[in-house]
Amino acid sequence: MTTVALKDVTKVFQDGTVAVDKINLGVNDGEFMVLLGPSGCGKSTVLRMIAGLEDPTAGAVLLDGELANDLPPRDRKIAMVFQDFALYPHMTVGDNIGFPLRLAGVDPSPRGERVADVASALGIGDVLGRKPSQLSGGQRQRVAMGRAIVRRPGLFLMDEPLSNLDSGLRAELRAEISALTRELGVTTIYVTHDQAEALTMADRVAIMRKGVLQDVGTPTQVYGRPATLYVAAFLGSPRMNLLEASVYVHLDRYVALNLGEQSLYLPWDDIRSRAVAHYHGERIVVGMRAEALTPVAPDTPGHVLQGRIRYLEHHGHESLAFLDIGATAIVVDEMGNRAEETSGGQRGLRRFGQVMQRLTGRSGDAEEAPAEPARGGGGNRTSVLNDPGRHHRRPAELAVRLAPYPAVSAGHPLAISVRMDALHFFDERGDRIDVGWR
Ligand SMILES: Nc1ncnc2c1ncn2[C@@H]1O[C@H](COP(=O)(O)OP(=O)(O)OP(=O)(O)O)[C@@H](O)[C@H]1O
Ligand SMILES: [Mg+2]
Repeated sequence: MTTVALKDVTKVFQDGTVAVDKINLGVNDGEFMVLLGPSGCGKSTVLRMIAGLEDPTAGAVLLDGELANDLPPRDRKIAMVFQDFALYPHMTVGDNIGFPLRLAGVDPSPRGERVADVASALGIGDVLGRKPSQLSGGQRQRVAMGRAIVRRPGLFLMDEPLSNLDSGLRAELRAEISALTRELGVTTIYVTHDQAEALTMADRVAIMRKGVLQDVGTPTQVYGRPATLYVAAFLGSPRMNLLEASVYVHLDRYVALNLGEQSLYLPWDDIRSRAVAHYHGERIVVGMRAEALTPVAPDTPGHVLQGRIRYLEHHGHESLAFLDIGATAIVVDEMGNRAEETSGGQRGLRRFGQVMQRLTGRSGDAEEAPAEPARGGGGNRTSVLNDPGRHHRRPAELAVRLAPYPAVSAGHPLAISVRMDALHFFDERGDRIDVGWR
């Protein structure tokens, strides 16, 4: 229907806030693109520039390949659904959905047909005669969607349309929205700060941080091979374990990754060992998701780490063990707070708790975790490893999946086998270390 291209698009607000910083992004015809990032990273500003509600300070917005910077919103064939959508309270559901058609001068009979079609596709065909006040939150959301799609837009912009709903309804509507937009073949840009929502709905995900695009790719790509430390930390639940490691090359044998009290050995025949070997004598970040870790008997040979359970979390279908393995964790300062807020101490820990909560959805007991000043560090290089303004460090608690309600408790020793091919590596700037990838 419509393609979108953003070329070096920047938005600086009058007070000097750089909301969007040189973003380059292409959205294909009929594609479902999800714009993902934390609050304040510039998602809405990007949508509003595409819709023509906000002028870019620099750069080009192309619609169907044509420069659209000066095109008025009404000429853009765009429908937008906002988080705080408003329905006309005195109109019926049918009239609310049909309103844009009435404005466009469509006759009552074809208008009624179109409204009925859209309403039935959205599962609200039986409440067309009701007023908004007689609807549930989910039904109201569907009416807002119906009103947006009834005119068959070429491009659908949705700004956190589900954020007011409870989680059950969100999941249901999530599936419906992706099914519907795909059925209609409408190009869609969907904004959310919910990584699970992004991964389930998107053809491709674009991840933003502080106005900067961090990574774009299919859910498999961005989850499986995140471009930056930030993307790695943002996607997935439980969050990826990010550990500081010192690299030592043993030519033709392996690359040792010293995690503090223990080491892992990346075999020389793992193609990535050559890339990691460049960091000989330096520190990098090793990322391991819970799915790369399997509990094993303590004397199992191979890539095994020994740990002790600090605490357990029971999620019904699984339990998570958080393991002390004597390593140092890199905590991504997700929101980009100022240095003094993230350099350890109570404020930093509180923030850490919030970040953990947001990233893992668990109520962070991290606040009770012992404070410990960052080890090592120092130096002047801008680095995720020693710059407290970007990230901070703390004793690692490795998240490991266990069967539900396991017969172990805090303090219990646990050995875990590590799938070396599932490890991620990042340099001190937070960029992925890899070979021949995207
Ligand atoms: N009119 C404005 N004037 C100045 N700053 C603004 C204006 N609108 C937005 N901003 C700032 O620009 C940045 C990006 O805002 P934006 O609304 O795009 O974020 P967002 O990613 O949509 O966040 P959220 O998830 O909370 O909706 C924020 O720092 C915000 O405070
Ligand atoms: Mg927003």
